[in-house]
Amino acid sequence: MKPIVPLLFAGVLAFAQAPQHDLMPAPASLTFGEGRLAIDGGFRVAVTGYDEPRLRSAAARLVERLQRRTGIPMRPGSAATLTLECQRASLPVQAVGEDESYTLEVTSAGARLRAPLPLGLLRGLETFLQLVRLDAQGFAVPAVSIRDQPRFAWRGLLIDAGRHFMPLAVLKRNIDGMAAVKLNLLHLHLSDDQGFRIESKAFPKLHQFGSNGQFYTQEQMREIVAYARERGIRVIPEFDMPGHTSSWFLGHPELASAPGPYRVERTWGVHYGLIDPTREEVYQFLDRFIGDMAQLFPDAYFHIGGDEVLPRQWNENAAIQAFLQKNGIRDAHALQACFNRRLLAIVTRHGKRMMGWDEILHPDLPKDIVIHSWRGAKSLAAAARQGYQGILSWGYYLDLMRPASAHYAVDPMSGEAAALSPEEAKRILGGEACLWSEYVSPEILDGRIWPRMAAIAERFWSPAATTDADSMYRRLEAASRHLELSGLTHRSNYRPILERIAGPGNLAALETLAQVVEPLKEYARSTARPYYSDTPLNHLVDAVPPESSTARLFNRRVERLNPAGIPGVRSTLARWRDNHARLLPTLERSALAAELAPVSEGLSKMAALGLEALDYREQGKRPPADWVKNSLALLDTLSLRPLPPESQPFCMEILTRHNRGEQQARKTCAAPRPAAELLIQIKPGIQTLLRALE
Ligand code: ACM
Repeated sequence: MKPIVPLLFAGVLAFAQAPQHDLMPAPASLTFGEGRLAIDGGFRVAVTGYDEPRLRSAAARLVERLQRRTGIPMRPGSAATLTLECQRASLPVQAVGEDESYTLEVTSAGARLRAPLPLGLLRGLETFLQLVRLDAQGFAVPAVSIRDQPRFAWRGLLIDAGRHFMPLAVLKRNIDGMAAVKLNLLHLHLSDDQGFRIESKAFPKLHQFGSNGQFYTQEQMREIVAYARERGIRVIPEFDMPGHTSSWFLGHPELASAPGPYRVERTWGVHYGLIDPTREEVYQFLDRFIGDMAQLFPDAYFHIGGDEVLPRQWNENAAIQAFLQKNGIRDAHALQACFNRRLLAIVTRHGKRMMGWDEILHPDLPKDIVIHSWRGAKSLAAAARQGYQGILSWGYYLDLMRPASAHYAVDPMSGEAAALSPEEAKRILGGEACLWSEYVSPEILDGRIWPRMAAIAERFWSPAATTDADSMYRRLEAASRHLELSGLTHRSNYRPILERIAGPGNLAALETLAQVVEPLKEYARSTARPYYSDTPLNHLVDAVPPESSTARLFNRRVERLNPAGIPGVRSTLARWRDNHARLLPTLERSALAAELAPVSEGLSKMAALGLEALDYREQGKRPPADWVKNSLALLDTLSLRPLPPESQPFCMEILTRHNRGEQQARKTCAAPRPAAELLIQIKPGIQTLLRALE
């Protein structure tokens, strides 16, 4: 007789374990079948339809990554485990909207990946690899049937190589990461006030004088473009004009709107150097320059920047003002539109479509430019209504250190875009995450992009209804591990950097602190201490991930706290309270850790407050009058420090350059701010514990 209880239990288990997938981005449709396809040393890929070298190398990379995933040496057997079948070649230069769809059928007998184009096979191979898991029998891919295609044609990542140069190897491994989450566009920001980063054959003084020796040769850039093409990724260059151009003027001061002298800027923020749009020689120069670059980058699109024009140089130049008068040009924005019209003619003549940041939107410009919205979703919808194609980056700025959930909640089609007609809505091509690199060195780049980027990639690829943040965080964890297989270093590099900071001190105590802090958000770091382009980014703020999963989970746990959960929360809080004493010797021994004293002490005090609150709660006692109020007020001051006097001038300089009034700037610079540019992120949880007593 079969025991009835275990059967029931098994039924409950089966229900509880309703098949879940770890895929990121989530596919458009997925159905689990019966059984599993074993992945063993005899794994073999066969190309059965249209064939090309790109598919062969993709298959070879898959096997290599499978070996890394499983630790099993692969000696291909005779029977194909996975067949790749597509119908015809993709276009020689990957186009926006080219078919990336695929279907994947996995049974215990084998896997079959089919797509109209090689592009779709590249996407499907990434899905296949993400499906591999270890079960009681070994490594396997579950039986599954997937039909998948992207929601948006434009799914990009911007890497700013201007502020900090990013070596070739860094770009390559990030291209691999992009491919792993089905992104299809790398936008390289190649010039800015702080650096001109590409070899110009037409005007070598641009890179020779403007880069401090850190630039991509044309040969290297061709290598990057080819590397990306192999992975189904387009590359577009951005040359930001007419602002953000100081680095151009070292070699070519004749382009500038003021005599200079110029330097490769060492501070962040927007600088005053502007190209002079009123002189013909400037357009002759740009024609040759863009012609050279248009050949180097085969993509159909060419980004001319166009953001953040501080018009001081134009306003102070008599010849430019006379030009305005003579031609009836009203203001700086109208002058920029004139410049853009000339640029458009040049870019078009060299066979490209011009795109630029949303500042270039102006009624005088024809509808065949593409608007890249960074200042808000509103301008994207406005552009689409007026007939312009556009993409969204507002909401996807990875440098602002926002949590994955915040980016995930931003949809290119939400807000005003939701009210667009179907015709207008089609003009929204997709989005791009941006990593501006003021506070990003090559060493920490991966940690700034990944894993949050995978959540944004899902927003761009998966059906609009894929919005559950809990599911996203669960899968993001899997994606983060998976991305390591692609060679990214956001996880592997973290510990060595912490070890460097701890020096001879206690790594475990530093790790405990590091787990609950996050870097300052938005642009708050810009005035926190003097930053120059060569300031070492080797502090804890540079090492910790933008989002603390420890703090996120703690804050959540506390929100749903029941009596059974209290002992666990208590022991966690006790560990945090006692961590300061454990970290003290490290703070004394390491120059890199010394600044952490107020933060570490702040964590300790926060945890102590939380424990006190739990005492009252468990004893069913009311705290003394005002205790909650005073404790909440104390929480707000923990770990705050005034800016040291020597940093005040720097703070003032940055703020006044950005047109804050002097009085407001003074107030901002005098206000206390989070020590070591770190936020202790368990604060919401402690607030919850305190407020529960009110
Ligand atoms: C930008 O962030 N200024 C495009």
